Amino acid sequence: SRPEAGGESSPEKLLAPVLSAFWDEDRSWTLEGYRRHEGYEGLRKALAMSPDDVIAYVKEAGLRGRGGAGFPTGMKWQFIPQGDGKPHYLVVNADESEPGTCKDIPLLFANPHALIEGIVIACHAIRSEHAFIYLRGEVVPVLRRLHEAVREAYAAGYLGKNVLGSGLNLELTVHAGAGAYICGEETALLDSLEGRRGQPRLRPPFPAVAGLYACPTVVNNVESIASVPAILHKGKEWFRSMGSEKSPGFTLYSLSGHVANPGQYEAPLGITLRQLLEMSGGMRPGHRLKFWTPGGSSTPMLTEEHLDVPLDYEGVGAAGSMLGTKALQCFDETTCVVRAVTRWTEFYAHESCGKCTPCREGTYWLVQLLRDIEAGKGAMSDLDKLADIADNINGKSFCALGDGAASPIFSSLKYFREEYAQHITGGGCPFDPAKSTAWA
Ligand code: NAI
Ligand code: SF4
Repeated sequence: SRPEAGGESSPEKLLAPVLSAFWDEDRSWTLEGYRRHEGYEGLRKALAMSPDDVIAYVKEAGLRGRGGAGFPTGMKWQFIPQGDGKPHYLVVNADESEPGTCKDIPLLFANPHALIEGIVIACHAIRSEHAFIYLRGEVVPVLRRLHEAVREAYAAGYLGKNVLGSGLNLELTVHAGAGAYICGEETALLDSLEGRRGQPRLRPPFPAVAGLYACPTVVNNVESIASVPAILHKGKEWFRSMGSEKSPGFTLYSLSGHVANPGQYEAPLGITLRQLLEMSGGMRPGHRLKFWTPGGSSTPMLTEEHLDVPLDYEGVGAAGSMLGTKALQCFDETTCVVRAVTRWTEFYAHESCGKCTPCREGTYWLVQLLRDIEAGKGAMSDLDKLADIADNINGKSFCALGDGAASPIFSSLKYFREEYAQHITGGGCPFDPAKSTAWA
């Protein structure tokens, strides 16, 4: 059922929203708004099933983690040991921070009960009595709405003692982080939640074995958990009828940059950027795509030649990138690629937690070199030096932030080495920043 490249499938079929179906309705975020759309029906079905059957059902549906890595959700739940006598925890990663990514925060703002319903189903499955939502602290209006939704869910008997008479007891705690990108890394998040400075832990052990308070813990992204109720309610076959064989289902794409209509678009996995641009109004008038990221700046950039790559884990992987968070940042021909990469690298240098040397020192060094090149003070030998430093960060850092920082360096040198050289031989940036609104 993968949509054909070139847009043969109708926009209605491709953009059949589930998670975002009623975001623009009056008071969509309330329990009443959610129930208008058969909210909490998936939970009723799940509670009538055994925990193991719920896990098997989600596994068979083929749901893959929507936070970036695409790890199978049901398999992650299955890793939680049973009968071990320890508490089990579910921690929802709502610390969305990947550059260009903006889908969990709008989802929570417009439809928080989808997440809460998914949390109750997941806790039933992994036999957990306490779940946490770790929210990015800056988004105070979302925090307020989330607190209100949790209050409503307790009052209606979806949380607390004996949920809907099923015997499940469940507490849900909402925690606001303090705005560090690294706290989106699952083990740094757990440290932060425990009250420590957020820095990644060594894996293994993975959180499934030793997570929050050293107990078995599932860490799932907001969108992953919010997708579960619809799977239970409408069925695994329905879910599998969308997307591709190995990447089934619907998902939220964040479209941004030099496009006519930036925003969140819900569509099946496996759609192409060309199709999404056709349906959303394309690039800004009079301009054409130069480069784009499939999943935020941590995923290698692609170019116009990749417009027909299926946006699923396999398709984007075969094109030499990663699907990541499905943050489609599109840049047109007015954009200086060196400037874009410098800006991203400044972000990684700023957000590096400092725990390991390759990332801490390497990102700082990359920024110095990039700034020199952009200002026309670089030498041709700097290009090999950039690649060498990135190579010493990639795969040699303690967590994925280092790999993410190296990724735009590698891909920009691969596709735009000539543009770097132009800065060096021409004594500076050949682009007019005033024409590129992406940097305004
Ligand atoms: P990973 O591939 O190492 O792990 C994915 C998940 O599977 C984790 O929850 C991990 O605990 C679990 N897992 C993997 N192997 C396991 C095993 N053998 N046993 C038990 N559990 C196992 O990826 P990672 O480092 O957690 O995340 C990297 C991704 O995060 C990147 O692809 C990037 O796109 C994304 N990301 C998302 C951000 C956002 O704002 N949503 C921010 C930055 C990065
Ligand atoms: Fe910290 Fe960077 Fe090392 Fe990750 S890679 S542990 S963010 S210094």
